[in-house]
Amino acid sequence: MSTYEQRRPLLYSRPRSEAHELATLTRRYFAHDFEGQTHARNVAWLAVRLGQAFSLSRQDLLAIAVGATLHDVGKLTVPAAVLETPGVLTSEEWKVVRKHPARGDLLVSPLVRHPIVRSAIRWHHERVDGRGYPDRLRGSEIPLPARIVAVADAYEALIAARPYSAPRSAADAIAELVDCAGSQFDSECVRRLVELDRSIAGPAMPDLTCNREAALPRYAA
Ligand SMILES: [Fe+2]
Repeated sequence: MSTYEQRRPLLYSRPRSEAHELATLTRRYFAHDFEGQTHARNVAWLAVRLGQAFSLSRQDLLAIAVGATLHDVGKLTVPAAVLETPGVLTSEEWKVVRKHPARGDLLVSPLVRHPIVRSAIRWHHERVDGRGYPDRLRGSEIPLPARIVAVADAYEALIAARPYSAPRSAADAIAELVDCAGSQFDSECVRRLVELDRSIAGPAMPDLTCNREAALPRYAA
């Protein structure tokens, strides 16, 4: 029985309340993927800022915050040893890792029906050129919140120190996203990120680079 299958009975047991079960699931994910907690909160912060740049409603921004916080929850099904691998993953390990968006969607499906939350979890690794996963959606087939979370996720991953890569500067990260606009990332989302970077030049965006913890609570203010 796989780790994923072993967890199914607990995750699908009858909840005292959906909110309680979702909070429990979130805590279990953060305990499983310790680095993922900081990453998830920073992605949520940045995704909400991007959502504000699209003038999304407060309700939609709240859903984006929840979806972005849980976007990698499917990594609960990925062994911690794989998540912490310092080198290049094997093809077999990659196969497991690439399943995390669909498995995350499955994990939250009994608890969350909100389309924004679900789309951020399931489709944050889709690419606008149709070469992403799990469903190979293309362009506007990918809901805007998922395109927003994809950009926020990539930016945060680039500026973070990981076992397999050194942190990049905010300027380098922006340059890479611009290079991939229109192929991997939605061009408009990248454009708004560049504008956001300029509009808050100085304190906010660099804080994600040099003091990631300090940036965590700001989206909720
Ligand atoms: Fe992911």
